[in-house]
Amino acid sequence: MRCCVHPAAVKRLAIRSLLLLAGLWLLATAATWFGNQPDDSAHGYGEVHDAVDHNNGGGNSVGSRMWRFLGAALRAQLQPRPPPPPLLLPDSEEDDAAGDVEGSNNKRRRGAERQSFVYLKVIKSASETITSMLRRFGLSRHLSFAMPLPNKIYLGWPNPLRQEYIVLPSGVSHPSVLLDQCVYNRTFLDGLMAKPCVYITSLREPFRQFQSLFAYYNMAEISGLGGRPDAFETYLSDLPRYDSEYQSPRRAAKRYCVPDNYSLTKNTMSRILGYVEGQDADKFVASIIADFDLILITDYFMHSLVLLKRLMNWSFKDILFVSRNIGRYPRMMAAHRPDLMRVHQAWSPVDYKLYQAANASFWRRVAQEGPSFRTELRVFRSLSKFIRRRCRALERGDAAAASGNDFTFLANRWSPAFSIGPMDCRRLRDAGINELQRQSRLAYTGDKAALTGYPYC
Ligand SMILES: *[C@@H]1O[C@H](CO)[C@@H](O)[C@H](O)[C@H]1NC(C)=O
Ligand SMILES: *[C@@H]1O[C@H](CO)[C@@H](O)[C@H](O)[C@H]1NC(C)=O
Ligand SMILES: *[C@@H]1O[C@H](CO)[C@@H](O)[C@H](O)[C@H]1NC(C)=O
Ligand SMILES: *[C@@H]1O[C@H](CO)[C@@H](O)[C@H](O)[C@H]1NC(C)=O
Repeated sequence: MRCCVHPAAVKRLAIRSLLLLAGLWLLATAATWFGNQPDDSAHGYGEVHDAVDHNNGGGNSVGSRMWRFLGAALRAQLQPRPPPPPLLLPDSEEDDAAGDVEGSNNKRRRGAERQSFVYLKVIKSASETITSMLRRFGLSRHLSFAMPLPNKIYLGWPNPLRQEYIVLPSGVSHPSVLLDQCVYNRTFLDGLMAKPCVYITSLREPFRQFQSLFAYYNMAEISGLGGRPDAFETYLSDLPRYDSEYQSPRRAAKRYCVPDNYSLTKNTMSRILGYVEGQDADKFVASIIADFDLILITDYFMHSLVLLKRLMNWSFKDILFVSRNIGRYPRMMAAHRPDLMRVHQAWSPVDYKLYQAANASFWRRVAQEGPSFRTELRVFRSLSKFIRRRCRALERGDAAAASGNDFTFLANRWSPAFSIGPMDCRRLRDAGINELQRQSRLAYTGDKAALTGYPYC
């Protein structure tokens, strides 16, 4: 009896079945972390929440696209066809993918990543978390940093930015990265930084920023309201009085790195960005919006990071983060006190103007990024959740998690392939400050005696 099936066909079928099984496994694995979960606001980011929910309906979610993709792959297997192209994570259907995928493989046309940037650090705007992430990027690429003097944490803040507050690695006159707190001076920075340089900063809703400052800088205690449950309300009920009490020289010993006669509550963010009291506020705001390539709005933290990634041509791995320096303060001063907010707004009007303009420009930009932005945001959320879980498991010494090799993410239209292992988890935790302190001590050639004085500031 003749066999009805040609052996070569059997072999082809066997290979296809194997490929299909491998594909199914990959897709099922991917689907568990790109799953159609509702967006939640607790991304392990403590007090900063991504407040805007961009739920565009389950039907278009990555998860369900994944399953449709899977269905198509199954159907394709039922017909005799040339072997399928390598598996890719699904692209957004709404996108014009033409420019992004070259040929049939996953080599995408990406610009070179940007490697010279200034992050103008604005206090209590998730800036410690952002700084750690950017520092990790710079250290992993061996970029040159503009560093504070040994044992200092600021680049002279709140004094005007000057060369004497900066240490450069030996042989470098134009560094690639500047992250530490200073007062913005574009003329100075343009002369200093390697070109072309990207300028980034971050802002936070001013009333929430004030609440965070109030707790972090111990303002109740230092202004003489310690122990009072209504300290926040009382401070706001007479801002000129308590603010000047906080700044007064007789309270100096209790303040940490805040000099005499410096207000931490009045247009704080604007003054870090170079605003001088009495200056035309509208002109100032317009110049800041025009000057910066991107102003992150930390009330919308995940959106901010995806915008940053797109601007810098970076990968998902570069924008992973762990939260830092998050103050715990009671919800008592929560934002549901519009009366108190108006008092603060009257006291600190330039910050409100600046925030409103930056927030509006932020959302215009998100809209300009097109529908693929949402998909990318969703993928990034799932991804960061997954990584956090995995890193936590590794830290707990979870045998199952630790025994595996580095977890590899396939290349997709938003990011080249990358892997995450125990070493990467450690790097996410280590803010890199010690390494830069080491470099600063190594490179510092100035008078060591000049380093005495108030430590760290
Ligand atoms: C980043 O990539 C985009 C396209 O992906 C490109 O248009 C842009 O020039 C790149 N930027 C840099 C600085 O290479
Ligand atoms: C800003 O920097 C420039 C160049 O170093 C300097 O001439 C100018 O005085 C600085 N401005 C302020 C306000 O410090
Ligand atoms: C701060 O203000 C007080 C009172 O107005 C004044 O005596 C003191 O010299 C000022 N200190 C500084 C560092 O400007
Ligand atoms: C930021 O802008 C968006 C879009 O206009 C708006 O919905 C949101 O309320 C603004 N956020 C704040 C905190 O003002």
